[in-house]
Amino acid sequence: MSNNKLQEKPPSEMDINRIRADFPILNQEIHGCRLAFLDNAASAQRPTAVIDAVSRYYQHDHANVHRGVHTLSHRATDAYEGAREKIRGFINATSISEIVFTSGTTEAINLIASSLGQSISADDEILISHMEHHSNIVPWQMLCERTGAVLRVAPINEDGELLVDEMISLMSDRTRLVALTHISNALGTINPIEIIITAAHERNIPVLIDGAQAVPHTNIDVQKLGCEFYVFSGHKMCGPTGIGILYGREDWLERLPPWQGGGEMILSVNFEEAVYNRLPYKFEAGTPNIAGAIGLGAAIDYLQAIGMDNIAAYEATLLDYLTDQLSNVSDLQLIGTAKRKAGVQSFVIKDIHPHDLGTVLDHKGIAIRTGHHCAMPVMDFFEVPGTARASLAFYNTHEDVDQLIEGLAVAKDIFT
Ligand code: ALA
Repeated sequence: MSNNKLQEKPPSEMDINRIRADFPILNQEIHGCRLAFLDNAASAQRPTAVIDAVSRYYQHDHANVHRGVHTLSHRATDAYEGAREKIRGFINATSISEIVFTSGTTEAINLIASSLGQSISADDEILISHMEHHSNIVPWQMLCERTGAVLRVAPINEDGELLVDEMISLMSDRTRLVALTHISNALGTINPIEIIITAAHERNIPVLIDGAQAVPHTNIDVQKLGCEFYVFSGHKMCGPTGIGILYGREDWLERLPPWQGGGEMILSVNFEEAVYNRLPYKFEAGTPNIAGAIGLGAAIDYLQAIGMDNIAAYEATLLDYLTDQLSNVSDLQLIGTAKRKAGVQSFVIKDIHPHDLGTVLDHKGIAIRTGHHCAMPVMDFFEVPGTARASLAFYNTHEDVDQLIEGLAVAKDIFT
């Protein structure tokens, strides 16, 4: 936002037209139709402020970080570390030592699986839920394959809600980690992570929260949550692709070994040994994604100018409208009807394959995601090959939803 005043306004008064003007990509036609971009859970769009921050960095300030005595290296380092501080503030981490730059949520989870994994053995268990994205399943499966440990999976119900008591009952003195999504990318379910974190801590089990779908839509305070690890991606929150964050509680990151070796993560090296760098650099081998971090910092400035509470409230209203409108479409089944939900709605329409639906909608300018959403076990649970999924951001409007509903009518005419 060019103007911080929005922060003071209630969400109903958010000037969506002005917000949309910040996103040049939204102002275009697809196949001759107005673009209705409803695929934000896959990747959100970038405001001019982010595009300009990255471009400015490359045009004026680029050099490698932490390595040079020259002016450009200082500028790049200041901008990169400045972004880390913005991220710390955004999620209220205690210190920048707790903010590790990764390429995204997936890499952050793989980092923990690799690093924590070095002390996992065949007697151990990792506990996840049935609604995880593949990135919070496969790294743990690979770890179990390597070590002989067992992967336990907490069940969900027909509304796509986590069975909390069952998850807690699966926690035991063998459980070495609970890894749970905050908000399901396929179902939109908001999990009661506070309850799970408390239950896990009562049993001395650390918790990793996959916040990829949560951080763009709600206020996150990692100190209040108290989880050991919280991971998320830049590109789902209006930042660049290829940048993400591992938040790790300092005591845990101190005790974990590094996962990749190379430059930057060391203090000294000889042929006998290496002394590892202090946090967070111990986990950042090699030249990092400097421009990505700077762009993510700009995205945080932008989101904070609007206000995360305003974003959450606005998106909740729009989700209600989306759900109501979809519920009125005949032969449409909503997949994911949890009581606590974020702006994601999956659905299937009788006798129309989701991919066919997606193709017809694209011809009407409507972008949704179709398929398994990298959550095949969720599809298996609901016994569907895939779903159509509309996912919201704060720049979406009632008009986007109406356009989707009109597009569905066209698809139904064609296929049924
Ligand atoms: N995880 C992303 C999605 O849900 C790619 O679409």
